[in-house]
Amino acid sequence: MNQNKYPFGESEITALRESVIGLMSPKRYHHTAAVEDMVIRLASLYCPGEIPALRAAALLHDITKEYDIPTQMLLLTEAGVPPYAGEEFSHKTFHARTAALLIPDNYPAFNCETVVSAVRWHTTGRKGMTLTEKLLYLADYIDESRLFPDCVRLRSFFWDAHPERMTEEDRRIHLRRTLIMSFDMTMRALLSEGAVISPDTALARNELVLEELTECGTN
Ligand SMILES: [Fe+2]
Ligand SMILES: [Fe+2]
Repeated sequence: MNQNKYPFGESEITALRESVIGLMSPKRYHHTAAVEDMVIRLASLYCPGEIPALRAAALLHDITKEYDIPTQMLLLTEAGVPPYAGEEFSHKTFHARTAALLIPDNYPAFNCETVVSAVRWHTTGRKGMTLTEKLLYLADYIDESRLFPDCVRLRSFFWDAHPERMTEEDRRIHLRRTLIMSFDMTMRALLSEGAVISPDTALARNELVLEELTECGTN
């Protein structure tokens, strides 16, 4: 029987869900619930013991997404981590920083490294991503509420390969290839929009590509 290593379980997660429903629009909550469902499916394949933390992280990952830009900037400044130059032009990504900042004070029961770091890096990724960070990042990209063509394509790429039937090693490589594809799609979309690309995204992508080249000689 699986022992929950986290100091929160079903009842705390249910209470968290009720609290976040009140913070966001129905559309945002629909996406949030779909990310929770997807991260459970992904963690079941890769790290079942992390399911409680990843469910909490999914519920918390977009809690500030609907805050306006000045409010988010203020949150960063008040926390002593002021926005970097031009950060206001990266509004699709910086809500990850503000959401992570709110967890210790507003959701102390969920203030653990796994939850906070998964929330913190869910938009850009970073060099040296942990497995749980990768899974929330991917769940946010391929949750069933996403109908954008890149998301549909990535969801099919991941699930149509039947990762549940793979060996552990093949499943690990499949996750890496899926993530590389996601970073490539994100960077292509940002280039086509003339938008800023986070250095963290480029570093995350390059690290995985180098891993792929080193281990498999191709990607
Ligand atoms: Fe987000
Ligand atoms: Fe999201």
